Amino acid sequence: MNLVEKINKLKKEKNAIILAHFYQTADIQDMADFVGDSLALANKAKESDAEIIVFAGVHFMAETAKALNPNSMVLLPDLEAGCSLAESAPADKFIKFKAKYPDHKVVSYINCTAELKTMTDVVCTSSNALQIVESFDKDEKIIFAPDKNLGGYINKISGRDMVLWDGTCEVHDILEAERIVQMKIENPDALLVAHPECAAPVLELADYIGSTSGILNYTLTTDNKKFIVATESGILHKMKNDSPEKEFLIVPSDETCSCNDCPYMKLITMQKIYDCLLNETNQIELSDEVMKKSLVPIERMMEISKKQNII
Ligand code: 13P
Ligand code: SF4
Repeated sequence: MNLVEKINKLKKEKNAIILAHFYQTADIQDMADFVGDSLALANKAKESDAEIIVFAGVHFMAETAKALNPNSMVLLPDLEAGCSLAESAPADKFIKFKAKYPDHKVVSYINCTAELKTMTDVVCTSSNALQIVESFDKDEKIIFAPDKNLGGYINKISGRDMVLWDGTCEVHDILEAERIVQMKIENPDALLVAHPECAAPVLELADYIGSTSGILNYTLTTDNKKFIVATESGILHKMKNDSPEKEFLIVPSDETCSCNDCPYMKLITMQKIYDCLLNETNQIELSDEVMKKSLVPIERMMEISKKQNII
């Protein structure tokens, strides 16, 4: 049996499912039961009746799945699969920051630890951040953490003035506007799509800004034949499958590398998925208190997203 067959056999025996993010490698996306953006994956985890959820993604996603589905065993194939945004906002530092703004509500991007979510009023993802922020009264004072690029972009399009935590995604923040301008000059027929974790000068150039699923939907439904893509390279797999006749140019992160990989997402491999499912290792554990408290702002996000037909 090859690895895919072995994983499928184990899945049946153990009543397990595999959830994967769009930044996973093509083999993992092809084998997963569901591939999605952060919000869709959280929703899938919540609705799942599987006994085991193997999360092919990063730590904060697996923690969110555990909080939403505490009775399932949630396995992360490599526990080192973190996220620079989550790491930028340790709970002890955030408590001190928050204390400076006692009259502010907290909106946290889902890319943060469960502990940070316990200090949050409503969680958001890149596909619902605007609607979540706009669910607060216009004069409500808000701290947005931990992504200053997403927070700055939401400030701009909503006209708010949220206080921003100084965190960035190490993959998106280094994409350079100058390089994109050059790509646009060389490809005047291409549209630029960008994830809102990119820095403001990149977002200013974009024809479309959205979550991974938003970007995929845009490239699929827009007639244009060529796109410059400012996000992680894993997204190209579905993009090319959905629109084989279109051309996609990924924005390279530096001179030597034409790829643009998240080092945390790419820690997950087929072998690690098999191993953790076989041995039931790498379980996500949250204390009862963190689980209970972090679930409140996550559930608020789910409610608002349902009302607004985002999920
Ligand atoms: P999405 O919610 O758009 O899938 O983004 C997740 C992420 O980590 C982007 O870097
Ligand atoms: Fe975190 Fe950036 Fe990787 Fe997404 S791409 S998981 S935000 S480090």
